[in-house]
Order: sequence, then structure tokens, then C-alpha cells
Amino acid sequence: MSDAKPLLDALRGARRNPPPFWLMRQAGRYLPEYRSLRQKAGSFLNLCYTPELAAAVTLQPIERFGMDAAILFSDILVIADALGRNLTFRDGDGPRLRPLSPGDELPVELDQAKLAPVYAAIRLAKAKLPAKTALIGFAGGAWTVAAYMVEGAGKTGFTRALDWAKRDPAGFGRIIDCLTAATIEHLSGQIAAGAEAVQLFDSWAGLLDAKSFRRWVIEPTKKIVAALKQRYPTALVIGFPRQAGSQYRAYAEATGVDAVSLDQDVGLAAAAELQRLRPVQGNLDPKLLVAGGAALDQAVRAIRVSLGTGPFVFNLGHGILPETPIGHVERLGQLLREDR
Ligand code: CP3
Repeated sequence: MSDAKPLLDALRGARRNPPPFWLMRQAGRYLPEYRSLRQKAGSFLNLCYTPELAAAVTLQPIERFGMDAAILFSDILVIADALGRNLTFRDGDGPRLRPLSPGDELPVELDQAKLAPVYAAIRLAKAKLPAKTALIGFAGGAWTVAAYMVEGAGKTGFTRALDWAKRDPAGFGRIIDCLTAATIEHLSGQIAAGAEAVQLFDSWAGLLDAKSFRRWVIEPTKKIVAALKQRYPTALVIGFPRQAGSQYRAYAEATGVDAVSLDQDVGLAAAAELQRLRPVQGNLDPKLLVAGGAALDQAVRAIRVSLGTGPFVFNLGHGILPETPIGHVERLGQLLREDR
């Protein structure tokens, strides 16, 4: 079961020492070479939809830091764009979409022409990756993408989506079903193009109570994982129900994901418990990577002590922050290669 790629080994349940690592949002604004290509592309979406540029950005952190995995450079909301919701990003303002309201006709089909450049970027990046480096594709969780589609924006607390889900679960369920099907198609396209693992980012899972979590997070995730495994038996799935707290256990038990990504609020004792169920990924606080110094060294060593004896992928608890100093990411790489 040993693979030349440490990340895939760990996701399949093997202990690797040192642990494989990558960082959520590892290609991004903290890198000067990213800011330069981002400027050249003009807009963030143009960067996502131009295969040569998206592939180049995907490879940037690997070239600089040698992570064990590259993650496709794209966004969880391109799927909403391909469902006709007119995605735009304005600087400093985050995403905007045409909001979906009760009574609106639901989008039916994914516009494959819109997503073709994403798959082309995967093929280009895959061809240039070092042999030991895995390629991760991704999508948003159905709940998280539905929340953005209903609100038409982020930074709103997602009250419209939460209200709709409570008031009209059957109607909201049709959006979730539509996104579940679209996500299966989009991730299948990514795997067919060369992604060896995919991560489902359910960034707003923490807004839901236990019952809603089961219905809007666990159920769709289970369907997505089952469909992908049927089509691509060797593909690996990482689930990230951010801030799921006490629901992490049910998620790990019920969804069928190969590994669970933990945010920084999961304590190391709870993380070790979850690791008995599934390989885990995480969970350094991104603020500690900004801070650096002794606090960073200590936190990284503590995570390795608690989780390094089982199947484990080192990562952050959420995306890398734009103000992160490059030197701290280099230091992190050294710490992860220390003998333990
Ligand atoms: O991890 C990676 O390096 C791959 C690329 C990636 C991006 N977004 C690029 C991006 C991934 C995996 C995402 C996921 C994503 N996108 C999530 C889930 C993870 C999370 O952070 O919770 C969410 C919720 C989104 C939606 C989104 N995209 C928002 C809310 C924003 C604006 C906030 C911000 O950070 O600017 C984006 C824009 C975005 N996506 C940027 C990047 C590099 C910044 C855009 C820029 O360069 O101007």
C-alpha cells in the first residue's frame, strides 16, 4: 500500500514520518510571485479561468517550499458561476453572485465550457509536478456553496440561507440536491484530468445545529463520496467541515471520506480521538504562522507529538493569511522535517 507520494499514503491510512504537509490557500497573496501573476491576469477569475496562469500559480508554492501536495488554483464558487449565477470578485469585497430566492427556477446543468479551463489547468500542473508531489482538486461543500448562492455574497452571517433552510427545508433541499449533482460532475472532471485526491471545503458547516448538520452537510457529502468512489475507486476524498465542533465525530463516521481536516478549535486530545476513526489533517492556527518565533515552533512540535504517531497530514486549521511572512513558512518546512 506504500505509494511514492507520502500524501496519498497518509490519506490511505499509513503513518509517515515526517508527516506530509500542504497548506490551505498555499497559493495566494502572501507570495510576491502570486501577486505578480494576479496583476498580469487583471482579475482573480481571469486567473482561475486561464489554464496556463492557474497552473503556474498552482505550482508556485511547490517550487518555493516543496510541499507534498499542490492544490489546484481555483475557487469553490466557480461551480455557482457554471450554474449561471454570474460570479464576480471585487477587490477587498469578496465574492458577489446573483442571489437565489424562493420561487426562482433552479439551475439545471453545469456549463462545461466554463469549467473546461479548470480541467486544462489540472493537466498542465500535473505534467510539471515533482514525482513525490500529489495533486489535490477541490469543491465547496453543498451547504457552503448554497449559502453563498442564496446570499449572493459572503460576510453576511448567511442569515437568508439559514432562514430558508429552516422555513422551507424541501425547497432548500432542492438547491442542495442540485449542488450535490453538480459537485459530483465537477470533481469527476477534476479527477479525470489528474487530481489524485479532492477536498470538500464546507467552510460554514459550523453555523448548523446537529439536525441541520446531518441534513445539509453529512447527507450530501455521503452522496458525493459514494458517487466518486463508484466512478473512481482509487480517488481519495478529504472532508473539511470547518468549525463542526462536536459534529466532527458523526461526520468522520458517516460520510465515507478518507480523511477529515480539522480547524484550529479542535483540541489535540479530541483530534487524536478522531484519528482513531480516520486519518486527520490539520490543524495549526494560521495566526501562529503569522506570529512565528517560539510560539510557532512549540505549536508545530505539539501537533506532531499528538498526531504524528498515526495517519496524519500536517496543514493549517484554515487558509494561510495574506500577511504571513515567507520566512515563517520556510521555518515551518524545517520544523516538519525535524526528526521525531
Ligand atoms: O488553497 C489554495 O491555494 C487553492 C485556491 C483556493 C482559493 N479559494 C483561491 C482564492 C481555494 C481552495 C479556495 C477555497 C474557497 N473560496 C473557500 C473555502 C475555504 C475557506 O477559505 O473557507 C471559500 C469560502 C471561497 C470563497 C472566496 N474566494 C472568498 C470568500 C474570497 C474572498 C476572500 C479573500 O480571501 O479574498 C475568495 C477569493 C480568493 N480565492 C482568493 C484566492 C487566492 C483571493 C483573491 C485575490 O487574489 O484577489
